[in-house]
Amino acid sequence: NRHLISAGDLTKDDALLILDTAEELARVSERSIKKLPTLRGRTVVNLFFEDSTRTRISFEAAAKRLSADVINFSAKGSSVSKGESLKDTALTLEAMGADAVVIRHSASGAPHRLANWVHGSVVNAGDGTHEHPTQALLDAFSMRRRLGSLEGRRVTIVGDVLHSRVARSNVLLLHTLGAEVTLVAPPTLLPVSIGTWPCEVSYDLDAVLPKSDVVMMLRVQKERMNAAYFPSEREYSRRYGLDRDRFAKMPEDSIVMHPGPMNRGMEIAAEVADSARSTIVEQVANGVTIRMAVLYLLLGGDTA
Ligand code: CP
Repeated sequence: NRHLISAGDLTKDDALLILDTAEELARVSERSIKKLPTLRGRTVVNLFFEDSTRTRISFEAAAKRLSADVINFSAKGSSVSKGESLKDTALTLEAMGADAVVIRHSASGAPHRLANWVHGSVVNAGDGTHEHPTQALLDAFSMRRRLGSLEGRRVTIVGDVLHSRVARSNVLLLHTLGAEVTLVAPPTLLPVSIGTWPCEVSYDLDAVLPKSDVVMMLRVQKERMNAAYFPSEREYSRRYGLDRDRFAKMPEDSIVMHPGPMNRGMEIAAEVADSARSTIVEQVANGVTIRMAVLYLLLGGDTA
């Protein structure tokens, strides 16, 4: 594959190759080798039209650890504010020699469109409510490092599925890797297409928790929320929040995940987020490793 746009485009072999490559890279960095020469002479452009902390910084760190040149583009302060289109912005960056464009955009489908306009590889760093494939890959990598193979593992994803590109990419990738996914959400925060997703749906978090190997809490995306269909914060937290009592219902060897940024005290209690069974900080570190693996596999060959 020349691009990474959707987790659904990855075969099981593709996904395992990325996870195994990330494992090799993690072993290299555990030997205190911080920088590899693999992508010397290549240019990676980070094209961010939406805010980001983890994804933007980890793609930059990943590209630099592979010795690529990195150009960081933020829509704020650019000629996008003068009305320049995505296409013209992309062509401008390509003229500066981009071998890969990492794009985050509020419009679902923007990376797909970009792939038709540029010659380099396009990596989706989150498009609207559609997909965030490198997040799903780093989540799968984090699960595998804690629990071993994902085959038959029961993963529960909880919360604002409607607005979550993380949930969609995780459901697609985890299904491909043989895990059994259950989504738990208020009916008003599930997409109408949910019946076509390869997963189960439940409205009863307390019933699902004791059977979960992994519980992934989603951020309530207030910025995309229409107040008409959101319960009060207190009601949401009471029914769908992972507090201390709910955490106690999970199996002792299960783990808690969150892609960040978190609303502490809303979808997840601070003491749960900070517990030894939380992988939240590991997920961030693993994000650099997975993005190194993705850039290496897309750009490392002779023909890239
Ligand atoms: N998880 C994630 O995508 O975080 P950022 O929005 O900070 O990149």
